[in-house]
Amino acid sequence: MTAEDFVKDLEQRNQEILRRLAPDSTLKPEVEGDLNVVNLLKVALRNEVEATEIAARWLVTTAEVDVKMAFARQVGDEAKHYRMIADRLRELGFDARSFDPIAKGYGPLFQYLDTLRTTVERVAAGQFTREAIAVVKNRQFIEFCERARDAATATLYRDVIEPDEYFHHQLGRSLLLRHAVTPEAQALARRAAARTLELAEELQAAALRTAGVHHAPGC
Ligand SMILES: [Fe+2]
Ligand SMILES: [Fe+2]
Repeated sequence: MTAEDFVKDLEQRNQEILRRLAPDSTLKPEVEGDLNVVNLLKVALRNEVEATEIAARWLVTTAEVDVKMAFARQVGDEAKHYRMIADRLRELGFDARSFDPIAKGYGPLFQYLDTLRTTVERVAAGQFTREAIAVVKNRQFIEFCERARDAATATLYRDVIEPDEYFHHQLGRSLLLRHAVTPEAQALARRAAARTLELAEELQAAALRTAGVHHAPGC
């Protein structure tokens, strides 16, 4: 398969599963109790730390300069998101300076990504797939913020964070086009993308079951 055909095929496979994570119009988010913008933004902080750190780890252990620099760009963007979300939390009355979003350790998706050793797996899982998931989750979250009448948080996500996450997904696409050129590389990339989606689905189901959370923003 050419790299172009491969990426097209991977995109189609991903989209089929992503539709299952997409907004469900029958879900009526509750804005009271634990499910509110502040608590969801705390989940977002955790996602941003994990996204920053996985890209940073890969940046120093990737040989190809184009991929290295793509990870570097992502590190900067995710760290910027962290700061912007922390600023928004302060406006909402929560001081994030004394908050450690990874006090309970890294999540299962981070731990899986951290096991990936090849460039094509990293790019397929961490950028092409994880960032496509982020776009879906952020669109859900924007909708949630609008229903909660939090226009400032919705705008932050719509104007800055979501476009950045989409750009990370596109970085993944262009790197796959360049590097997923052998049957072996394509098989590795396909497997890593599938596992990432599987974990995202499991995590979403668990969050829904245990905390009623179905609108946590992605990264
Ligand atoms: Fe991202
Ligand atoms: Fe981010």
